Amino acid sequence: MFFSIKFPRRVIFGRGSLERLPDLLDELELRGKAMLVSGRKFARESGYLEKLRFLLNSAGIYVVTYDRVEPNPSVETVENGAKIAKDNGVSFLVGFGGGSAIDAAKGISILAAQGGNLEDYYYPSSVKPPTLPVVAIPTTCGTGSEVTKYAVFSKNLRKNIIASDQIIPLLSLLDAEVLKHLPRKIMAHTVMDAFSHALESYFSRNSCDFSEIFVQESLKKIFENFKKGFDGDIDAREKLFYASMLAGFTINIAGTVIVHGLGYYLTERFGIPHGLANALFINQFIEYISLKLPKRTARLGSLLGITASSPEEFSEILIEKINELKKYAELPMSLAEAGVPSSELSTIIEQALSYKRNIENCMAPPTDEEIRKIVENAFRG
Ligand SMILES: [Fe+2]
Repeated sequence: MFFSIKFPRRVIFGRGSLERLPDLLDELELRGKAMLVSGRKFARESGYLEKLRFLLNSAGIYVVTYDRVEPNPSVETVENGAKIAKDNGVSFLVGFGGGSAIDAAKGISILAAQGGNLEDYYYPSSVKPPTLPVVAIPTTCGTGSEVTKYAVFSKNLRKNIIASDQIIPLLSLLDAEVLKHLPRKIMAHTVMDAFSHALESYFSRNSCDFSEIFVQESLKKIFENFKKGFDGDIDAREKLFYASMLAGFTINIAGTVIVHGLGYYLTERFGIPHGLANALFINQFIEYISLKLPKRTARLGSLLGITASSPEEFSEILIEKINELKKYAELPMSLAEAGVPSSELSTIIEQALSYKRNIENCMAPPTDEEIRKIVENAFRG
């Protein structure tokens, strides 16, 4: 077995933990000016932007607010934020929001310290020090970005990835109180992203006994808490928050595979939310992988406590369980239902094939023909 993982210096998980921010900043010797990075609406309308400014000010920190991050942050947004951070002499970043805000903070943390263009740091390039420290405060249950080495940026209908231990947040603060405000649909979409992270990483070439601990716990928690969390139960939402963080740990070790590679174009071209885009390919991926890797698939069944007489039966049960969640949240069950025109299928296939990293990372990399089949099946659902 081999694995490599770097954790954030501090992870604080618990309701009310946001109040501890001033003490934590002091403990981590984060001083001077902070750039507060968030989306355009939620942080302001929920009152959290004000609250964070207050908490930072009470720690003697001057705050520069950058609340302009759009979903699927563009390269321009990050480069613009970095310029403002540099001009203001910012010493660290606080990313508050879903994966988009936290990823933008990570991108700014590189450019504000080193300059250059964001594309200079895209995978497979690595990021070397220095970067500015990042404090990550997630508000959704999906990305895991608060603990991961990944950041994803959009340009010209492409997802561009930075993958480096150097951008793992210094502090990850998960306070489930913020989830009280999360709309049900966003809740469902983001949890599907976490589900996808855990499932895909299990079939990654880099999966190992250590990453499987996170996979097992994450998937179990999602199945147990999805419906209640969707309905707004805060205890269930907290468990889903925990599940998404665990899924972040497993992708830090093993990475994602083809579901993410398939979903990227749907988000870029049609604005389908990232988690939902993944959800639209999960079932077809399970059908594919259970035929290719029956033993490994059966083992996942036993990790999840699903009793089945064969890998095929397990994959049927698993898909049924996933469909139950999707139907509960009234998610589209096929690409067609999500409004994707059939004329786009060839481009979806072509784009998926171009995310080679995701294909090659799979224990059983699909051929071009197999990718085509997955896409066609996902279209019909
Ligand atoms: Fe994701």
